Amino acid sequence: MARRAAFLDSVWEEKVPVLMVDAGDMFGRRNKNERFQTRFLSEVCGSFGMDAIGLGEMDLNYGIGFLREMVEKYELPFTNANVRDQVTGELILPEYLIVEKNDIKFGIISVLDPIRKIVTMSNKDPEFEIQDPIAVLRELVPRVREEADIILLLGHLGDKKHETAVKEVKGIGICVNGHTHRNLTTERIIDDTAMLTATYEGRYIGRADLFVDDKDGQLMAFDVSVKSLDQSQPDSEEVLQLVEDYKKRLKEFQLVKRSDFPRNLGSDKEQFLVDRSCMGCHEEAWQVYAKSGHKRAFVTLRNKGQNFEPECLSCHTTGYMHKNGYSDQRPFNHLVNVQCEACHGYGSEHNRDGKWVTRAKDSCVICHDKENSPNFDYATYWEKIKH
Ligand code: HEC
Ligand code: HEC
Ligand code: HEC
Ligand code: HEC
Repeated sequence: MARRAAFLDSVWEEKVPVLMVDAGDMFGRRNKNERFQTRFLSEVCGSFGMDAIGLGEMDLNYGIGFLREMVEKYELPFTNANVRDQVTGELILPEYLIVEKNDIKFGIISVLDPIRKIVTMSNKDPEFEIQDPIAVLRELVPRVREEADIILLLGHLGDKKHETAVKEVKGIGICVNGHTHRNLTTERIIDDTAMLTATYEGRYIGRADLFVDDKDGQLMAFDVSVKSLDQSQPDSEEVLQLVEDYKKRLKEFQLVKRSDFPRNLGSDKEQFLVDRSCMGCHEEAWQVYAKSGHKRAFVTLRNKGQNFEPECLSCHTTGYMHKNGYSDQRPFNHLVNVQCEACHGYGSEHNRDGKWVTRAKDSCVICHDKENSPNFDYATYWEKIKH
């Protein structure tokens, strides 16, 4: 963000009119940490003064309520022409935007690929319907053209489909491609449309110098370049400070979240010895465990990007909320997955008096509750991990 800000500053200093757009997927993945980060990202992007942002499916990760909150609070100019609330049939964002720069009116339209799945983290969302982008553009482009000199499409469609779109729908002057992992570093024209792409994860920023006929809005020529926001790009001190402040707030946020899961069960004197320590003496039990889902429970979270969420970690790690139990700090970060000691207890207590067996039998329902394991039945489940 700090590099982007410095790059933008250098462009502003040239004192040429700038139209700043993004083709979507600005928001993060579906977990609370990234939602927290997305607030910050929205704030900084808001301060850049973007002119238009197309909708990507990621931008609905935290629900329509969150998106609208960001749009209002930070004046993020999101637009989309083909995603509707299935119940009301209404578009969820402004259908298109008209932005005037240097006396030229840009009609900005964005469409999302219907094969993208919209999954939100909130349970208050309506179902969304994604209409056929080509059909929508066929109807909309001529309509917007009446108000605008040139049409700019923020396509959230993926490489091939952008080409199809501009071939099938006449009158699109510029197409900025989203949802792609390829930068377009040279001038590329399909039919009469200039294709522009700079991707991804905020690592690049594309620049196109446009020469537009101010009488008929015809794009006469353009130059493109893609700037890598790597170490060679200096930081903006101002935004760097914001990033530092944000990191502090993130730490606090994580601590507050974690404080709902205090690490106060068990005893300071006992230790979890980690699964491998049992392997040598309990070979058979190890073999069963190694093949079980319990041994992969943390990977499951990581695959979902949820491995920092205390509310998930409580059941997908060993000794969560216990003294000396799992935490993301060494050495407790070795207690990932549902290890032997998640069921049997602190290894340092190993004393062969039968207590461990009873405790382990009682342990299942702490994690296999109604919500997370509705089909749980001790006999059938035990059968699968019997040792
Ligand atoms: C600390 C929490 C926790 C405890 C205690 C626990 N489980 Fe699990 N169990 C899980 C999680 C999490 C998964 C899902 C793992 C995955 O696939 O990511 C799971 C999955 C399973 C599965 C399906 C995975 C497979 O290997 O087929 C079985 C069977 C199972 N548990 C049985 C049991 C039984 C029986 C007990 C008690 C003796 C028990 N579990 C205790 C958290 C727990
Ligand atoms: C109260 C304990 C508990 C909590 C909290 C919990 N899980 Fe689980 N999770 C389980 C158990 C138990 C299973 C296995 C269910 C079964 O097979 O019956 C499971 C299974 C899963 C699976 C399916 C694994 C597979 O591949 O079959 C996923 C994915 C998962 N959990 C993700 C999460 C995420 C993400 C969170 C946090 C939002 C979370 N869990 C919170 C106990 C929990
Ligand atoms: C999901 C919970 C769970 C996990 C994980 C688990 N166990 Fe167990 N284990 C149990 C339960 C429950 C019993 C008792 C079964 C019975 O006797 O009904 C048991 C029994 C045992 C016994 C046999 C006790 C006897 O009857 O002599 C040993 C030894 C043992 N576990 C070792 C291990 C080791 C070593 C690991 C890790 C490699 C492990 N367990 C992982 C739940 C678990
Ligand atoms: C140095 C060898 C050794 C190590 C290491 C070891 N055990 Fe044991 N464990 C034994 C012996 C021996 C017994 C008693 C004989 C039996 O029941 O198998 C036993 C018994 C058990 C029992 C049944 C206890 C009861 O209450 O009757 C469980 C459960 C168990 N071990 C789990 C574990 C777990 C979990 C670990 C790793 C943290 C572990 N053991 C590490 C040797 C070991």
